[in-house]
Amino acid sequence: MNEPPQLSDGGFAAWSRDRLALARRGADECGDVWQLEPGVYVAATAGPCEDVLHRAQDFLKAPSPLFPPLKRSSGAPTLEERAHAHAARMRGLRAHAVAGRIGEIAPRAARFADQWPTGQDVEILPQVRHALAEIGVHYLFSEDAPTLLPFAAQLFLAREVLVRPSRWVWPGWIPTPARRFRTRQQVAFTNALRPIVRRRRSSGRLGDDLLGEMLRPSSHYGLLPEEAVLDTLPGITVATFETPSRAAGWILLHLARYPRAADRVAAEAALLPADPAETTSTHLDSLRYTRALVNEVLRLHPPSWLLTRRATRRTQLAGYTIDAGSTVLVCPYTAHRDAREHSEPDRFQPERWLDDAGSPAKPGVFLSFGTGPHACEGAALAMAMLTLLTAHTARCYDLSEPPGPEPGFQVATFEGLATVGLHLRATSRS
Ligand code: HEM
Repeated sequence: MNEPPQLSDGGFAAWSRDRLALARRGADECGDVWQLEPGVYVAATAGPCEDVLHRAQDFLKAPSPLFPPLKRSSGAPTLEERAHAHAARMRGLRAHAVAGRIGEIAPRAARFADQWPTGQDVEILPQVRHALAEIGVHYLFSEDAPTLLPFAAQLFLAREVLVRPSRWVWPGWIPTPARRFRTRQQVAFTNALRPIVRRRRSSGRLGDDLLGEMLRPSSHYGLLPEEAVLDTLPGITVATFETPSRAAGWILLHLARYPRAADRVAAEAALLPADPAETTSTHLDSLRYTRALVNEVLRLHPPSWLLTRRATRRTQLAGYTIDAGSTVLVCPYTAHRDAREHSEPDRFQPERWLDDAGSPAKPGVFLSFGTGPHACEGAALAMAMLTLLTAHTARCYDLSEPPGPEPGFQVATFEGLATVGLHLRATSRS
């Protein structure tokens, strides 16, 4: 059997000390695929990463354990109904649907910038998370968002408690305090959402938001059962702001560290309508450099830098044999820093996303939103939110990091790549 090479001085001990450094060393010393521990492999470069993500039958993605369907005495949705709910949700998240709602996203992005307390160091991730939750929850539930926002914040908290590193991995059936807290918050969210669903259905005013899209009858499957609508929404609600806020932390840090790039974003943003509610998808498309900057930050610091799969059968990957039951970790972080894919891969260079005429270019592999059957459902929404938030912030402020030799944040790698504790200072642009 031709196993992937093992890294000298690798293994879980080195992994838990510095995951990013070990991932890079693995890619540099071993190449495409390497072995972290027996039965645990890392796909480190573009080809094998894409291969694993596309071969969803051979490399299975476990269903998200964060918000599993609630147990019910009766009426649990069937697998088919869940698939229909997924299709309905996708209709509400596709690029065309997002493009039609830029005028709702932009005012909230502008408000985030307007409300930034200037002249002091501010811990920015909680603030940006709140702003993105307002945008995301509004995108899903429009005028019902204020009712659901507090429940969404509690769902986020439940998620944080669940994914916190722990010395013990409890079997899934044990009702640990974290899991009980999660279930309580999920039930509370669902109980708040249920009357909204019923009111919209009985009034016939289904809404022009994602929930409305899920309530609309389809020629393919008719009406979705209420429980199928309710089950799918806690996870999506948190997804609208959890990963995006990690991304926003990195983006704002880059605005602070690269003032010339920030000036260029500000110049583009100056051309946006004075009333943000008048922003359209055409305005968003005109923010080419801003979008390039967002892409470049996501390339260098993919918030979901490691994706997990399990091999369902003995199979081949990049010429190596992978046994059934093995874990394969797909690493967009190292794939994005491969010089064969991106020249000077460690350099922050938003221009690589633009051709000579300043139009969008595609420079090599980009896996920040995944690829294949499980690729990110919210990529269009995330890009719209992040581009507008970046533009409005740079339009208003010069950002800076607190002075001092050490960075004012920690790079967390456990559940995604994040700038934990990031403090920034905003000074109004004159
Ligand atoms: C910068 C922001 C975001 C990043 C970097 C991101 C990244 C990703 C990645 C890498 C995956 C693939 C996971 C895998 O293959 O294991 C994924 C899946 C997913 N994302 Fe996102 N995401 C972002 C924003 C969003 C938003 C705003 C939403 C919701 C509206 C969302 C909803 C989802 C869902 C539902 C999946 C699961 C798809 C499936 O398993 O079929 N994401 N995301």
